[in-house]
Amino acid sequence: MVCHIARMLRAQKRHISFHTPGHKRFGADITELDYSDDLSDPTGVLALAQADAARILGADASFLLTDGSTCGIYAMLYALRTRGVRTLALPAYAHKSVFHACEALGLIPFLIPQGVEAGIPRQPSLREMRESLARADAMLLTSPDYYGFFPPLAEARAMCTQTGKPLVIDGAHGSHLHGMPAHASAFADMWVDGVHKSLPALTQGAVVSAKGEWAAPLAEGAEYFRTSSPSYPILASVECALKYPRGERAERAAAWAKEQLQALANDDWTKIVIPFGECADGAQASLERRGVYPEFNDGNYLMFYLSPATKVRHIRKLVRLVRGMPRGEVKSEAPVAGMVGFKTMLLPIGEAVGRVCARACGIVPPCVPLVAAGSVVTAGAAARLKKAAHTFGLTDGKIMVYEQEE
Ligand SMILES: Cc1ncc(COP(=O)(O)O)c(C=O)c1O
Repeated sequence: MVCHIARMLRAQKRHISFHTPGHKRFGADITELDYSDDLSDPTGVLALAQADAARILGADASFLLTDGSTCGIYAMLYALRTRGVRTLALPAYAHKSVFHACEALGLIPFLIPQGVEAGIPRQPSLREMRESLARADAMLLTSPDYYGFFPPLAEARAMCTQTGKPLVIDGAHGSHLHGMPAHASAFADMWVDGVHKSLPALTQGAVVSAKGEWAAPLAEGAEYFRTSSPSYPILASVECALKYPRGERAERAAAWAKEQLQALANDDWTKIVIPFGECADGAQASLERRGVYPEFNDGNYLMFYLSPATKVRHIRKLVRLVRGMPRGEVKSEAPVAGMVGFKTMLLPIGEAVGRVCARACGIVPPCVPLVAAGSVVTAGAAARLKKAAHTFGLTDGKIMVYEQEE
């Protein structure tokens, strides 16, 4: 398949640049010129690339993004808002961008509870989805999640169709599934594909897509939230990544590695999740000394993120290194719901234990709440927040909690 944007970039003629970007070096990093098209009103290579993306992703309209899935989530929620949605059912452990977009756009979130099993938030059950959807105008699901689990998508679709409510999917981790039954396109009215995470695209490359009547409001959302200076290297890489071969060899090697390493039995081949319990920090340090970097360490598990571009010999090396490593017991702390008040205050992490959290906070990555708003700050969560190199949701290292009546 032709990669239109990359072909255009290769065919450029040298010229003197009196245009942005300021580096003036000329190369793949150009701006919107007469031959390179315009992302907000595409009629040339970008129109061709977006049409191909829509065909590949099973959409009626697709919009290339150089601002990550975050931009796609803002665009989808904006589209919902313009069509009368005021309340949104979403998983308690949704990505922080979903909470931020709700706040920025004035959408009221109804959290779908997620049970924690063996230290990992699990996808919501059908009953929990049904109850939350009954109170909301639309539903957002994450599929797959960072640990490689799918929600019950067919049932969620049926539920939304029966109630006449739109379903949107945060597919930040699912673009490698395009063309397969589990891809978001088979279920959602709008979805985002985080192409840079699970396909070989440059960081920040993503696509947001819609079906039917949602194409027009999503186009407006993309116009509002996309940058007006898109990066051509990222755009070209997204188009090429969508046209990249599926990666069956890496997929087979991943299945073998999961078995060899007694990895978590999840649904998605690109996420190898290995339980190390209290040995997680030691295992991460030992692997990194040997030049092997996992995606994240959540204090229990190391997560290794694969893509169709992962080399089979690297998967074999991972198996060799991890096989003999010590493992500890996985700690699991179920979140406890607390009362929600009105007045909030900031407390140092240690002093917040036992109080009800007022603003979700967690570790980066995975950027899902470690302590969700409305749940009690546990000693375990406080210890992990204190130890984490990067966090979100804290202010000057303090947690926002609800003031308690004395
Ligand atoms: C579930 C989920 N949604 C959305 C995002 C945001 O994606 P991006 O970093 O491409 O903006 C992430 C990022 O990790 C994520 O894990």
